[in-house]
Amino acid sequence: GYDISALLKETGNVTLDSGFVNTAACTSAITFIDGDTGILRYRGYPIEQLAEQSTYLETAYLLIYGELPSADEMASFDAKIRRHTLLHEDLKAFFNGFPRDAHPMPVLSSAVSALSTFYQDSLDPFDQDQVEISTYRLLAKLPTIAAYAYKKSMGQPFLYPDNHLSLTENFLRMTFGFPAEPYELDPTIVKGLDLLLLLHADHEQNCSTSTVRLVGSSHANLFASISAGINALFGPLHGGANQQVLEMLAQVKNSGESPKDFMMHVKNKETKQKLMGFGHRVYKNYDPRASIIKQTADDILGRLGVDDPLLDIAMELEEIALGDDYFVERRLYPNVDFYTGLIYKAMGFPTKMFTVLFALGRLPGWIAQWREMIEDPATKIGRPRQVYIGEGARDYVAIDQR
Ligand code: ACO
Repeated sequence: GYDISALLKETGNVTLDSGFVNTAACTSAITFIDGDTGILRYRGYPIEQLAEQSTYLETAYLLIYGELPSADEMASFDAKIRRHTLLHEDLKAFFNGFPRDAHPMPVLSSAVSALSTFYQDSLDPFDQDQVEISTYRLLAKLPTIAAYAYKKSMGQPFLYPDNHLSLTENFLRMTFGFPAEPYELDPTIVKGLDLLLLLHADHEQNCSTSTVRLVGSSHANLFASISAGINALFGPLHGGANQQVLEMLAQVKNSGESPKDFMMHVKNKETKQKLMGFGHRVYKNYDPRASIIKQTADDILGRLGVDDPLLDIAMELEEIALGDDYFVERRLYPNVDFYTGLIYKAMGFPTKMFTVLFALGRLPGWIAQWREMIEDPATKIGRPRQVYIGEGARDYVAIDQR
């Protein structure tokens, strides 16, 4: 019941762009996406080449520092990360304060927020040495925090990190290993998990990254900004979708109805049922990360000897969607999350951990984007405008006269 163009003029010619569909909030030299053709590049390198030849940690370096590292630079970066994996003993006490059945995402964001209290020198976002050490601390400690959140939920003892291991190996051992028992690493799982983390490493100005930048634009430090990003990622329309995909596939299987019937609910707007893992704000074509993951899902499940009926349901749903006008007209394709959950499940992770794995993967991107934002002289505090549609001026009425 209001005239939006009149209101926009009245507000001083602001732009109303709900969900920032057409509004760029910054310039960035980190990630390039062409959503129409399905292209994704980190610092100019195609995601397909990085997936094939790089590692998660090397890609983290690339995102944060802008260039692929030399062998010496990589060795020094890796050594620094390995040196910072331990959590302060007092930080470990935090995990006992949460209910055992707590979702690990808020545990993760709380522990990252708490890092500001343990490293109070980190509070100045313009102290470059502190930003550098906070970068190592985050990359090194988030896997330990994530593993502890898992251990807590299982009622199992924590394992100290073993810094002879790579970041991905160490995380797997701290998650699935037991103290005083040897843990045998499965090379298929190590390689597969490293690849999935790499594929999630950055995705320009998505909801959580924009949150990290917005919070950081007030000159909040790296830990506070990334804790906020983790909370943004928790939502089911963003990182939480990977958990929801698996729950949806299990629901289809357990209900006994066919994938075709399930799709009827999705197309019926009344049900508010979405095909989770489908659709993307930017990709109006196949998500290039989903293509790589789909190829790997079959391979990894095969090598792990897992025959999961949910994979068949996922493939059938995709096939139906690709030939259905509803999805074709709206240009809805599988996104990065459609197949990841099936792989994580095959690796032994419970569904609640899926979004945590997304956070581990996305961390280098958040750090790179925060650093780019803080170093950019054009950055101003993020402060969107609004179009006011409420009451005009009116006089206060005493409570006994209302
Ligand atoms: N299932 C069914 N219909 C869908 C889906 C879906 N997964 N996604 C979008 N649509 C429909 C919408 O209802 C809308 O239809 P309408 O035009 O008839 O109203 C149309 O497609 C356009 O969708 P929007 O919601 O306007 O697209 P938007 O860009 O705002 O949302 C989003 C993108 C949030 C990813 C959406 O596609 C979605 O909710 N997908 C499911 C959740 C998901 O997989 N999230 C992960 C995203 S990727 C990531 O974070 C890694």
